Amino acid sequence: MTRADIPIEELRASHRRDYDPYHQVPIAEQLAELADRRETVPVSYSARGNGCWVLTRYDDIAGVLRRSNRGFISFPNDPDGINSTGADEGMIPIELDGPRHRQFRVMLDPAFSPKRVAQLEDGLREWANRLIDDWIGAGECDFNKGFALPFPGVTVMKIMGWPEEDLDRLYGWVDIVMHGVPGVPEDEANAARGKAHGEIREYMFALIAERRAAPPREDVTSAALAAEIDGKKLSDSELFDLFLLMMLAGLDTVQSVLGQAMVHLARNPEQWDQMFESTAVLNSAVEEFLRWGTPPVPTRTIVDDEVQVGAVTLPKGERVHFPLAVANRDPSYYENPDDVIVDRFVDMGAKPHVAFGLGPHRCVGVHLARLELRIAFQELRRRLPKFELAADRIPQEHLGLAWGVDNIHLRFEPGTRELT
Ligand code: HEM
Repeated sequence: MTRADIPIEELRASHRRDYDPYHQVPIAEQLAELADRRETVPVSYSARGNGCWVLTRYDDIAGVLRRSNRGFISFPNDPDGINSTGADEGMIPIELDGPRHRQFRVMLDPAFSPKRVAQLEDGLREWANRLIDDWIGAGECDFNKGFALPFPGVTVMKIMGWPEEDLDRLYGWVDIVMHGVPGVPEDEANAARGKAHGEIREYMFALIAERRAAPPREDVTSAALAAEIDGKKLSDSELFDLFLLMMLAGLDTVQSVLGQAMVHLARNPEQWDQMFESTAVLNSAVEEFLRWGTPPVPTRTIVDDEVQVGAVTLPKGERVHFPLAVANRDPSYYENPDDVIVDRFVDMGAKPHVAFGLGPHRCVGVHLARLELRIAFQELRRRLPKFELAADRIPQEHLGLAWGVDNIHLRFEPGTRELT
């Protein structure tokens, strides 16, 4: 029987299994539930929010990503299907598709090339040590506040060519926009979010005016100022949109992988030793933590008449939602998928993971993210050869649009500052 013979309500009902992307459970528990779905109903329908289909198999997820905007659109990229900001157009470039999206990638890709990214290495290493210097003498640190948040923050500032001395101010606002204010009522948190968003906007508009008046430089800001999309230069609002996405896309993701990795390594110190046995193992460990600790969760909406997803033919208008982490734990491609095996990617035998997505929207920051993770692990290893989790502070995982860990407090032998 073809899909056209089955009313959509019937198709949904026969595949129904609700899914909560914001469920307050540990990541392993959400993944165990998704693994069970993969076995029993690999393409399932969840009626939560405006409803969506939840994908669980590597091949189904990779297939949707590869087709990307042929068959699917990316806006709004929200699991509940709600365009919460009320915007007419999607965020640049992650919620754009087709030729307009391609023009943004033609502008962005060279600005994030391996060569451009490699030029940042020394500066990033120095910044990693500057951050470590701030707490190394205390013998303990709040890892997110002291490293996992500001390190990706400064990396974005560097590739964008923004003044590094504004890091604390800018990322103080970004932190509030993304994570609200812990412990305050929802309306107060929303007000703080709105205020911080306004402050970022004001800061960015001033920066854009300054950079328009200055000679071009070799950074992403100059590339964006020079770009013509659909034959026109970008307006201040479009530039703001793009710059805001850079800050958001490059922050939670790297922070999440670093956080999940450090919690795991505190509990498995033999792997902290093993991953530095050779450069090959270290590079493999970076890939393994990206695979095992994949944070982002894309959503797409079908625009063709019908699209085959796994064994199910879905009609136009249906939305598919897929935590990339579940593709990366598919036992069809990864033996003992829930285990961290730091040398899993050494011999190139393991299937490439999809932590950075695939197809037209594949992450712009792939090379940058890999460099950041490698430098972070190397410098943390050099300065913190041994560390553990503070016994009185329990790390807390969250789900959502990017999965991650809060409340990571590390203890270690106090060390000395290296930079003045
Ligand atoms: C561990 C680190 C990172 C991970 C796992 C990650 C993952 C992803 C994924 C899965 C996508 C595609 C989403 C989709 O298909 O809807 C994406 C897109 C994107 N990422 Fe990353 N990312 C990381 C770091 C970064 C960094 C450091 C930057 C830049 C500073 C960045 C900038 C972007 C941008 C601009 C896009 C949109 C690309 C487009 O729509 O064409 N990401 N990222």
